Amino acid sequence: MSTLTDTFGRTATDLRVSLTDRCNLRCSYCMPAEGLDWLPDDSVLSDDEVVRLITVGVERLGIKEVRFTGGEPLVRRGLVDIVARTAALAPRPEISLTTNALGLSRNAAALAEAGLDRINVSLDTVRAETFATITRRDRFHDVVAGLHAARDAGLGPVKINAVLLRGINDDQAPELLRWALAEGFELRFIEQMPLDAQHGWRRDTMVTADEIFAHLDTEFDLTPAAEPRGSAPAELFAVDGGPGTVGVIASVTRPFCGDCDRVRLTADGQVRNCLFARSESDLRTSLREGASDEELAERWVAAVVGKRPGHGIDDPSFLQPTRPMSAIGG
Ligand code: GTP
Ligand code: 5AD
Ligand code: SF4
Repeated sequence: MSTLTDTFGRTATDLRVSLTDRCNLRCSYCMPAEGLDWLPDDSVLSDDEVVRLITVGVERLGIKEVRFTGGEPLVRRGLVDIVARTAALAPRPEISLTTNALGLSRNAAALAEAGLDRINVSLDTVRAETFATITRRDRFHDVVAGLHAARDAGLGPVKINAVLLRGINDDQAPELLRWALAEGFELRFIEQMPLDAQHGWRRDTMVTADEIFAHLDTEFDLTPAAEPRGSAPAELFAVDGGPGTVGVIASVTRPFCGDCDRVRLTADGQVRNCLFARSESDLRTSLREGASDEELAERWVAAVVGKRPGHGIDDPSFLQPTRPMSAIGG
């Protein structure tokens, strides 16, 4: 067995698989109202191709966790089957999903049955009007129904990801946390990263972790959580002495790249060794040209070796990746 280890000694064991670049919301920090030029169907990996690459990762390269992302992974028709086939691998990886939860109320039980272990849901507000402003769709109540279905299906602990936007929902942080604690969801606030399709992100207007803490401090007493963080992006805090917690994912102001254990596969079969990678490795072409599992594994190892030490967002030479977050996978 090989490992996906880079020259800085980090080993990737967490594979994030984007199943589609399409989405049924239009979050303003992610893509424009009209959507994007989606990947052509024939460039997107088939279910069999996705499962083949995951199998190579798990059986030959030490992948221990598989997270399905998008775009929005629930719009991918084969999702339940892909999860079931991933759960049948040995050693069985932990399987999770990052989703906007639209339509989840119909699928949560089937996903749990197929072997999905955990779910993270994007929700930036608990006000229906603010939700419609941010996502450009009036679907707040569908998301809440999806969250409840996930909890009822035992897909727990259900986590919520919230991005705060200045002047839109940054004053709603305490309200969102109060709601999440009452509902039993694990809320994490996320610093916005320069990964939007419109290239509208600005370092001087993004809401920083320090500001997030300042908003929460008005209502809650936060103390660092006891459990070790490991390679998790979220710093965890006990709220008012616990047991409730809140997380802060401070990718920009407190980068955690030194402990990164991630590698990504895009919907069109490209390996990316970092969200901010400047290049990709084309496993789809190799696969379609008949490469063996061993050859695919070799290409994958080579793709990870040159991973850079960090995202470099604060470097003067920083360049935003050409692919937006929705086409890389969240
Ligand atoms: P857990 O295992 O449940 O903690 O998952 P997660 O937090 O890694 O996954 P999720 O897909 O919910 O990601 C939450 C947020 O973390 C994303 O919206 C990103 O903002 C951020 N994130 C995820 N992966 C990376 C990464 O590799 N690098 C950086 N900088 N941020 C990431
Ligand atoms: N910065 C940080 N997080 C983002 N997300 C989408 N775009 C960005 C960004 N530019 C989040 C979504 C979702 C997860 C997949 O990524 O809110 O929770
Ligand atoms: Fe890993 Fe790149 Fe994310 Fe840093 S920015 S944590 S190196 S994927």
